This record gives sequence, C-alpha cells and structure tokens, in this order.
Amino acid sequence: MADNSSNQKNRFIVFILATAFVALALYLLVLFDLPLRDYLGAKITSHAVVDSLIRIPQLILSSVLAFLGVRALNAITFDFVFRIRRGYEAPALVRNIFSMVAFTVLFVLIFQHIYAEVNLGALFTTSAIFGVIIGLALQDTLGNFFAGISLHADRPFQVGDVITVGQQKHTGVVESINWRAIKIRTFQNHIALVSNSIAAKEAIEVSSRDNLNARLVFFSTIYTDSPAKTIHVVRESVRDADNVSEKITPIVRIRNLGESSIEWEIKYWLEDYAKYNDTDALVRQRTWYALRRNGLTFAFPTRTLHLERKVTTRPTTAEDDIADRLSAVDVFAPLSTDELRQLAMATVGHVFAPGETLIRAGDEGSSMFVVHNGRVQVQLTEGGKLRPVAVLSEGNFFGEMALFTGEPRTASVVALEETEVLEIGHAAMKHLFETNPSLVESISWTIAERRAGLAASAQQSAPNSLAESAGLLTSIKHFFGLR
Ligand code: CMP
Repeated sequence: MADNSSNQKNRFIVFILATAFVALALYLLVLFDLPLRDYLGAKITSHAVVDSLIRIPQLILSSVLAFLGVRALNAITFDFVFRIRRGYEAPALVRNIFSMVAFTVLFVLIFQHIYAEVNLGALFTTSAIFGVIIGLALQDTLGNFFAGISLHADRPFQVGDVITVGQQKHTGVVESINWRAIKIRTFQNHIALVSNSIAAKEAIEVSSRDNLNARLVFFSTIYTDSPAKTIHVVRESVRDADNVSEKITPIVRIRNLGESSIEWEIKYWLEDYAKYNDTDALVRQRTWYALRRNGLTFAFPTRTLHLERKVTTRPTTAEDDIADRLSAVDVFAPLSTDELRQLAMATVGHVFAPGETLIRAGDEGSSMFVVHNGRVQVQLTEGGKLRPVAVLSEGNFFGEMALFTGEPRTASVVALEETEVLEIGHAAMKHLFETNPSLVESISWTIAERRAGLAASAQQSAPNSLAESAGLLTSIKHFFGLR
C-alpha cells in the first residue's frame, strides 16, 4: 500500500515537471517567434523552410501539452469524480476511448490553429485511398474496438467475475477488459486473452461475483444404504465446509438409480466462486469422511455388484489396539484387562477430516470420546469469536461432561488433523461405574478441573474444584442411578 502511494506521488511529480517544461518551451517559442524568424531568415533564404522550422516544433509541443492535459482530465474524471459518484473503478476501455476522442479533437483544433491554410476536412473526405487503406488495415482492430464498446455498454460481466468463453472454453477470473481483448487468469494461473470480437460472437458463461453461484459434486453409494440417512449425513457434513454459503442449505439428491449404484449429486452454493476447485475437493473429502463415519459405502460397480457386504461402523482398527488405547487413558487405569476388552467392544470408531466439528457447544450429548489417533481442539465461542481452550491428543478423552451430567455440551471440539475417535455410550459407562465405583470419582475430578479451565478461559471466577467435584460426584451417581 505504502509502495503504491509513493509510486503515485512520484508519477504525479514527474507529470507536473513534464507539463511545466513543455509549457515553458512552448511559451518561449511563441515569445521569441519574431527574433527566431529573423535569426533563421538570415541563415536560410527560403521563407517556407523557416516557417515550417518554427511551426513543426510548435505543433509537437502543443500536441504533447494537449496529451498531458487529456491525461490530467482523464485522471480527474475517472479516478475522482467517477469513483466517488459510482463507487467502483471506471472500465479501462471507457477511459481509453475518452482519452482518444479528447486528444483527437484537441489535436485537430491545434493543427487548424497552426496550419490555418490546410483544410483537414477536405483532406479526409477526398482521400478515398487513405480511407480504404485505413479501413483494411484496421479491420480487426476496429472490430475488436466496437465489440469492446458493446461489451461495456451491455456489462454482461465485470472484473473479478469468473467466465467461460471462446471455442477452447477458457475459464478463469476476468482481470481486465480493454479496447482489444478480455484478459482472463485461468485456474492454472495462465493468462488467456480472448479478443472482443470473438467474445461478442460466442456464448459466455458468467458466474458473477455478486451472485450466489452453485456447483454440483457427484458421488455414488451402494443400494443397501438408506437414502434418507445419506441425505442427512452428507448435507450436514458439507454445510459448514469452508466457502460453502450459509445462505442456502446444500441439497443432496438422487440423480439416477444406476446399474450398480445410487448416483447422487450435491448442489451447494459458494461464497467465492473463484475458489470452486478447492471447495469441490473439500466437499468430496467431507463426503468421504461422513459416509465412512456413518457406515455408508461408496459404490465401486465392479466390486459391489456381486458382493454382499456386512457394513460395519467400526474402522479397520483391531479390538486389541482399542483396548491398548483405552488402557492408556488415565481414568480407565483401575480397569482389569477383561473390563478393558469389554469396553473396547462397546466403542464405535469414527474418523474426522481436519477442520470438521466433532462436538458442537450447546448440543445434547450422550456419549464421550477417546482420541485414538490425531488431535482435536476444544473451543469456546464468545461474541462470534473462537477461543481455543485446550488441545487433546491420543489417549485424551472429551465429551464426558455432557455424558455424566446430562447438561448440554460445554464447548465445541474440532479436529486439527485427520482424527480417529472412539465413542463410548451411556450404557457402557453405566456398566463400568457399577463395577468400579472409584471411576466416578476420578472422572468427576477431571470434569471439575475442566470446568475451572472453562471458567478461567471465559474469565469468570473459577469454582472451587474440591467442592465442585464433591457436588459432581453426587449428581453423576444420581444421573446414572448409582448408590
Ligand atoms: P462436553 O461438555 O460434553 O463437550 C465439550 C467437551 O470439551 C467437554 O465435555 C470436555 O470433554 C471438553 N472440555 C471442556 N473444557 C475443557 C478444558 N478446559 N480442557 C479440556 N477439555 C475440555
């Protein structure tokens, strides 16, 4: 920004100096017209030669001055007046046309003033050959020029919009539109120049920046999967992905009942259409994780056609691995090997993508989770802003507060990387509590500590952990119907 403004300042100073210099030179030329003529007349006998030696620099200097004047007028009109009144930058083509017309008019006036004896009008109207030459030479250029004018008058798209144009179907973001061509930056970061006359003849697909543009992403599932469940699971996983607009809920619908799979399409709307490649990819990624977590299966026609699959919600992790993981969780330390194995069998594994929300603050919750692989962040939302409270990694658990107290979730938990968690439900915990009364105590300690952490994070006064834990112990026992 600072660079830009100092650049502008330098250009302004150069402009003022150049104008002053040319104006001074012209003034001196006019002021010393007679002495100059006398001086040259003494050296050159031909009166006509002297005359043109004086008039040519006059014409050149006046034209340069007119050019500088037109630039200044252009800047005042478009950089200040137009931008302030219309609120956006004037198109380059309009500015160029303005400069060309103003300069041509000024040049003709200057020329007529200096060469009063030459009839410019007659020169142009009688010179048919000149006209033909110009016409032929500038055929394409003029075509582009007028097509450019009509594009501007029509305003079908603006700088920043994504368009697809030309026979090669160039797609990209419009960078500029000038008197000759439309400049598009493609998604491979190339520049495509499509001449105005071609653009005027072709159909142009415009995805305007001001419009909520939609995209379609496809996937297929096997026939045994429930459509209602698929719709719910995929829609919920896609709706909070980055750049997916919150204004319209994504639509998940069956587009075809194929030979070997149910074919689906996800229609979603984007906040910034220029990033649709990344967002399509994220939507596919979210779909993959959501399907896997919920025991839904992508269809591979050649493999699923004759295969009867038993759909399991547990990822490939073996029970022993899970029991090992649970044995490393501090609150489960008192459990025997058998109890750990039983608990391992009662868990359900889920995999989440980086950025996915595992738990939302305020939701109801009837299960807790142990991080098997990966890392999650516990977050509070305050005044629309996220405040990280803790990062939990392998062997840590979360979600116990709502499970054991019956209250809504106290915080949100978001995956920081691909994370596999083991879900433990109410029934499994109740069983453990009955056989291990000390477990209730150690869990109520953790809850009390975390509550203190939350209170500190929310800058409230932290409750007394000891008293809190005693109260919790009673309410957990009550909640689980324990003595
Ligand atoms: P729950 O309230 O069910 O859902 C959000 C979870 O975030 C909560 O249970 C705890 O497991 C976890 N949590 C809340 N506060 C903290 C904290 N200060 N440190 C670690 N984890 C926390």
